[in-house]
Amino acid sequence: MRIDIITCLPRLLDSFFAHSILKRAQDAGHVEVQVHDLRDYSSNKQRQVDDYAFGGGAGMVLMIEPIAKCIRKLQAERTYDEVIYMTPDGQRFEQKTANRLSMTENLIILCGHYKGVDERLREHFITKEISIGDYVLSGGELAACVIADSIIRLIPGVLNDETSALTDSFQDNLLAPPVYTRPADFEGWKVPDILLSGHDAKISDWRFQQSLERTRTRRPDLLD
Ligand code: ADE
Repeated sequence: MRIDIITCLPRLLDSFFAHSILKRAQDAGHVEVQVHDLRDYSSNKQRQVDDYAFGGGAGMVLMIEPIAKCIRKLQAERTYDEVIYMTPDGQRFEQKTANRLSMTENLIILCGHYKGVDERLREHFITKEISIGDYVLSGGELAACVIADSIIRLIPGVLNDETSALTDSFQDNLLAPPVYTRPADFEGWKVPDILLSGHDAKISDWRFQQSLERTRTRRPDLLD
């Protein structure tokens, strides 16, 4: 899989992808992440990528030219499954979207900034608009990291134990059950006996019941 991220703050993203599971996924060849500095596609000496909004009002708008140039260059090199724009007015991101996107080949993710991007980009280049929640960030970079992380960890082979992604919260519209590790007794706070019993079937059943109970009390909306 290949993910191309277009941003005017490339350094913010570089460090995120240089660590832990995301780094290992790239080193092992499961995914290639390329971060593109929008300023490299600017047509003026000041490397300007934003301008005042037509009609007035506060806030700058990312210009169409540098973004169009970058997207067209990438699209001339390969076919993209989606050109995603990170924006608070996009479709709310959920696990099922992460699952679907993890099965694609090539993705472009455009990070918005300031007051957003020229609307003509959304009309003519963007195929999917994603929000990570009903709050406004100062740019789409963090949101792009959030979705890229959730997608990359689902690519087969990325997690050591492939089944661990299958037992994540939300994977069957259920929250994950509680987990414990050593010691079995910490200052009198004990791990549930069932988990030490060695009875796989009973443990599985207990975990399912815990998931159900957790979902019922914390996120009943998921069971509707
Ligand atoms: N850019 C700014 N806020 C955002 C959000 N909530 N989701 C996605 N992109 C954003």
